[in-house]
Amino acid sequence: MAVTESAPAVPPAARTQSRPTDRPTDQGGGYEGILRRQSQRESAARTYARSLPIVPVRARGLTIEGADGRRYLDCLSGAGTLALGHNHPVVLEAIRKVLDSGAPLHVLDLATPVKDAFTSELFATLPGALADDARIQFCGPAGTDAVEAALKLVRTATGRSGLLAFTGAYHGMTAGALDASGGAPDVRVTRLPYPQRYRCPFGVGGERGAELAARWTENLLDDPKSGVTTPAGMIVEAVQGEGGVIPAPDDWMRRMRRITADRSIPLVVDEVQTGVGRTGAFWAVEHSGVVPDVMVLSKAIGGSLPLAVIVYRSELDVWEPGAHAGTFRGNQLAMAAGTATLAYVRENRLAERAGTLGAGMLGRLQGLASAHPCVGEVRGRGLMIGVELVDPDAAGPDDSVPPPAPALALAVQQECLVRGLIVELGGRHSAVVRLLPPLTLTDEQATAVLDRFADALAAAERAHTPHPPAPRGATTPRNASGPSH
Ligand SMILES: Cc1ncc(COP(=O)(O)O)c(C=O)c1O
Repeated sequence: MAVTESAPAVPPAARTQSRPTDRPTDQGGGYEGILRRQSQRESAARTYARSLPIVPVRARGLTIEGADGRRYLDCLSGAGTLALGHNHPVVLEAIRKVLDSGAPLHVLDLATPVKDAFTSELFATLPGALADDARIQFCGPAGTDAVEAALKLVRTATGRSGLLAFTGAYHGMTAGALDASGGAPDVRVTRLPYPQRYRCPFGVGGERGAELAARWTENLLDDPKSGVTTPAGMIVEAVQGEGGVIPAPDDWMRRMRRITADRSIPLVVDEVQTGVGRTGAFWAVEHSGVVPDVMVLSKAIGGSLPLAVIVYRSELDVWEPGAHAGTFRGNQLAMAAGTATLAYVRENRLAERAGTLGAGMLGRLQGLASAHPCVGEVRGRGLMIGVELVDPDAAGPDDSVPPPAPALALAVQQECLVRGLIVELGGRHSAVVRLLPPLTLTDEQATAVLDRFADALAAAERAHTPHPPAPRGATTPRNASGPSH
């Protein structure tokens, strides 16, 4: 799709003209009224709605049109859900086909042709060594439901209760998933260091940092006085998304596989965000060749509708009938949309495309890093890209890495919005600007996204910097580094 959108350079809130057809007449106030009523009625926990005050009324591919008539390039993609962008024709056709067929929309966990087709298509994409001997459990509709199912599964199968999880992890917002996430308020799992190059917990980064992180894990498990008993499982993301777009090195992933296999600890890989081509492989575990015991899948597998499953080695399938259930685990529309999405990504080699396009985008962003001292690091894998913003004038605790700059990141996000670009914020301190465009992104669209981002970055930096920054010149920028894998 060609990029034809033009975005007026004014903040959305400053515009009052709505398209008449989009303006609700019953309660008045147009799109601003909708936003006002939302802020009055919805919970204080609302998130995206705070930083992105838009009212989407139409969407196609990369583009969202707001009730104010403005168009936006959407690089949030439903937090990484929309592998094919908004309302892709194959997805709409699959949904319509089910609607027009008279098939039941609600079936609990009964067998249907729609479910059978989804399971067959999904299994065709899985790592062979897992697919050959896998079971699938359809879960409640969200990724967090599937995480809960995975944790329950390994606890039942091993008879153990402990869990290994990583610093910076994000697995969802239900109790068990939150426990396993880095932001857990009450720590009931053993937290292990996740390797990071830029903010390495050991202060060394690179392969050495990953080696130390692995060694720490091994030591905890083997030291009889570590205070950590053999756990029910280890849960890990191959690329931490919400944690700040941090790809785990492939060697480290393989080491985690060996460590867990040698100790009969099931390895659960959470592919909720990384799955369906996002990182440049159909599943992110393919980069390392790791075959997990359990994979947690959601987001893109439902083709933009709610769907979540776990697939796991049959040996772990010791559940009694009804041991895991959920009224909404039979979403026929989501399964049809998901089948169409999985097939389209596979047939059109969109994972490969994400890898190539993502590498090009990373390269251009790394070029920006040398001109903007506020860019701490550019990193990512495939079309899962993060730009960490820092305060270059403030010394970090170890005097080498400047502290994160969440206010600047928010300013960049707002400047992007003014320029008709929707981006997400993430990372430990919300200082990482995240790009998660659909895998259908064209070269032209990628250029438009990066142009708007570069412009927004420069504007936010100008507003935040007392003196214009000096270009880094010919010296090798410490932060212009490639993906950490
Ligand atoms: C890796 C990962 N796991 C689990 C979840 C939770 O998914 P949901 O928000 O659908 O519950 C997310 C959501 O962003 C995620 O990124």
